[in-house]
Amino acid sequence: MVNLLAHLFLFSLSRHCFVSCLTANTKNITTDLYALIAFKSLITSDPYDMLANNWSTSSSVCTWAGVTCDERHGRVHSLILRDMSLRGTVSPNIGNLSFLVMLDLKNNSFGGQFLRELCRLRRLKILQTSYNKFVGEIPAT
Ligand SMILES: *[C@@H]1O[C@H](CO)[C@@H](O)[C@H](O)[C@H]1NC(C)=O
Ligand SMILES: *[C@@H]1O[C@H](CO)[C@@H](O)[C@H](O)[C@H]1NC(C)=O
Ligand SMILES: *[C@@H]1O[C@H](CO)[C@@H](O)[C@H](O)[C@H]1NC(C)=O
Ligand SMILES: *[C@@H]1O[C@H](CO)[C@@H](O)[C@H](O)[C@H]1NC(C)=O
Repeated sequence: MVNLLAHLFLFSLSRHCFVSCLTANTKNITTDLYALIAFKSLITSDPYDMLANNWSTSSSVCTWAGVTCDERHGRVHSLILRDMSLRGTVSPNIGNLSFLVMLDLKNNSFGGQFLRELCRLRRLKILQTSYNKFVGEIPAT
């Protein structure tokens, strides 16, 4: 059911957001770096220190725990942070990860509303947000 909703959600969003996605080409790996720094900055609890030391700007984001990049574009392809007991909200800057295909935040304590910015992730195919504390409806848009 959750998967079905996520698919319907992405399908309708991908149509509505077509125009804004056309601007995605101006982004590069530096945009991804800023997006992930913004994402990290809104994490208020990281009990296993998964990101605290590992997500260091002295190494490429492609080597960061939970992050993989695709070889063709050199951009962030997946963000997999399940079972890490992370607490916080998801930064709107996540919408700048324009080559993101998989976003897996399963089993953490992310809260707040579902993000409209996810609509900008035109390539997103797998969205896993179960076992969190998100509130409200997936936006109708
Ligand atoms: C990314 O794009 C910005 C301009 O949008 C540019 O200043 C920067 O050098 C680019 N970085 C890379 C790694 O290509
Ligand atoms: C971060 O974690 C990844 C995966 O566990 C590891 O390959 C990488 O070397 C780590 N980087 C740092 C700076 O600790
Ligand atoms: C969630 O993650 C914790 C570790 O952070 C683990 O102990 C627990 O079994 C996981 N729960 C589920 C439903 O996967
Ligand atoms: C990233 O996203 C934020 C919020 O959605 C936006 O304000 C910002 O301009 C974006 N940054 C880049 C470099 O595209």
